[in-house]
Order: sequence, then structure tokens, then C-alpha cells
Amino acid sequence: MSKTILALLTALLLTTSTAVLAASADERAQTAAETRQGLLKVVARYFGPIFLMAREQIPYDGDVVKANAEKIAVLLPMIPDLFAADTSAFDLETEALNNIWEDLDDFNAKAQTSAEKASALAAAAANGQGAAMQAFGELGGACKACHDNYRQQN
Ligand code: HEC
Repeated sequence: MSKTILALLTALLLTTSTAVLAASADERAQTAAETRQGLLKVVARYFGPIFLMAREQIPYDGDVVKANAEKIAVLLPMIPDLFAADTSAFDLETEALNNIWEDLDDFNAKAQTSAEKASALAAAAANGQGAAMQAFGELGGACKACHDNYRQQN
């Protein structure tokens, strides 16, 4: 690596870490909330088309079910990482309930179960619409099981 590139990278890393260090506890909590919400928005981006298939609003497409379920199965295991920061002491725009950080093992177990249901859906996509939609129902149940306990109901 050339010295110039190395110097540029060093400068970049230094500014980044200074910015991170300079962030207040409030700002870090806000960023943590926005990051986990972003993850779940991405989950919903892949979940949505399968939901529309289940409601027969768009035609069933097993390839899309498989591809989207595989992505959801990669995303859901990120939940424990992105909820590790306990933001319950902060005044944030969030639907996350504070009991997440009192029952973190159970919360993380629910994330794990949901990821397994997403993998099962990806596998079931090869077995036809009936099998896929049953597996999709179980995935939806796993989302709901967590939301019922840990997400503010509107
Ligand atoms: C282990 C718990 C858990 C699981 C599993 C889970 N969620 Fe959530 N979800 C949450 C929590 C907590 C929030 C609120 C986050 C916040 O506001 O800080 C949330 C928020 C959301 C949001 C709103 C994001 C936003 O802020 O715009 C959507 C959409 C969502 N979840 C969809 C899903 C779907 C679809 C699944 C299943 C494939 C799922 N979730 C599985 C806990 C979970």
C-alpha cells in the first residue's frame, strides 16, 4: 500500500473515531434506536411481497419467497447485536418497550426462533405454495410473538 493511501486511511479513521467519541450519550442512544429500526424496515421490505402473496394480492412466486426468506434469515440474527445497547433510560422516538433489557435472554431467544422460521420458509419454498404459506404463517407468528411482548402496540 502506498504511503499516501495509508496516510489518507489513517486520517479517515482518526476523524471517524473522534466523531464517535464526541457523540453524546443521547446521540448514541438515538443512533442505536434508528439503526435497529432500520434493520426491521429492511426485514419488512423483504417480508412485504410474501405477505401480499399470502393475501393473494399478487401472484405466488416461489423464487421470490425463497430469495426474500433467505435475506430475512440473514437479517433477523442481527437483532441481538442491534438491541444490545440498553436505551431504556433515554427519551427516544421508539416503539421498543423497556422490558427488552430486563428479559434480554428471552428477547434474543425470540429473535433466534424467528430466524429459524425464516430459514424454514426458504426451504419450504421448493415444496409448493401450500407448504410455503404454512411456513410463512409460522414466521409471521414468530414476529408477532416478539412484538406482543416487546413492541409498543398502536
Ligand atoms: C425479537 C423481537 C422481534 C422480532 C423477532 C421481530 N421484531 Fe419487529 N420489532 C421489534 C421491536 C422491539 C421493534 C421496535 C423498535 C424500535 O422502535 O426501536 C420492532 C419494529 C418493527 C417494525 C417497525 C420498524 C420502524 O421503526 O419503522 C417493523 C416493520 C417490524 N418490526 C417488522 C417485523 C417483522 C416483519 C418481523 C418478522 C419477520 C419482525 N419484525 C420480527 C422486535 C422484533
